[in-house]
Amino acid sequence: MGINIDKNQLYIFDVDGINGAKILNYDTRHYPFAKIAAAVFKVNSLEYLHKDWIRYKMRHGKPPELNYSDNLSLRKVLQNLDDNSLFYKVYHHFVRQIICSVFGCKMSYSSHPKMRVHLAGTASVSKWHRDADITRRRDQINIWLPFTNAYQGNSLWIESDYGLADYQPVSVNYGQALIFDGGFLDHGTVDNDTDVSRVSIDFRFSILGSHMPETAQSILAHRPHDLRLADLRSTQTENSPW
Ligand SMILES: [Fe+2]
Repeated sequence: MGINIDKNQLYIFDVDGINGAKILNYDTRHYPFAKIAAAVFKVNSLEYLHKDWIRYKMRHGKPPELNYSDNLSLRKVLQNLDDNSLFYKVYHHFVRQIICSVFGCKMSYSSHPKMRVHLAGTASVSKWHRDADITRRRDQINIWLPFTNAYQGNSLWIESDYGLADYQPVSVNYGQALIFDGGFLDHGTVDNDTDVSRVSIDFRFSILGSHMPETAQSILAHRPHDLRLADLRSTQTENSPW
């Protein structure tokens, strides 16, 4: 796919009320994640994936009630995609064209993003957490990319500032990427009480070398002193350099 990205067309803006978080708009005609995921699930609309899934369950003699295991089953379908599938081609292209345009190309990123499904009417799929408590990485920046419009109960909830635990949902539309300091800002989900299912991916990247582009600095710069990058002890084991 030989798409030329005009950097001036990339539009990035601050998320009101979440320290350092940004939203980046991209063109879904060039990166048609939702169409690809809908084709994988063989549905017309990811938003109503719960309805198709209930019909599927009932056809197979299963109870129509939805729970956490339904989210996991559907998530697995995406996780089983082959590395050579269209999805991965578009994903890598997206990172190298769009993310690279904003943060520079001296970076490493997850070669396999986490796939998420949060069906309408199901309980929370992620407890409150800070990624760095698990990864031990201070240098990573999170990108959260919904393939459906995400808001209120079907979205990601993030605290407004480090340690405040005042979680609020972030409204992120399909065609937007949420970029935030998931390493140290507590985040998670609540019950999806909307009538819209959410399908999304998320991944982390880190800047390689000593020069931190301003765009990346602006996301991490507001951390409390004891969490600053100056204390970085990076092992960079999880990401694949490219
Ligand atoms: Fe996380």
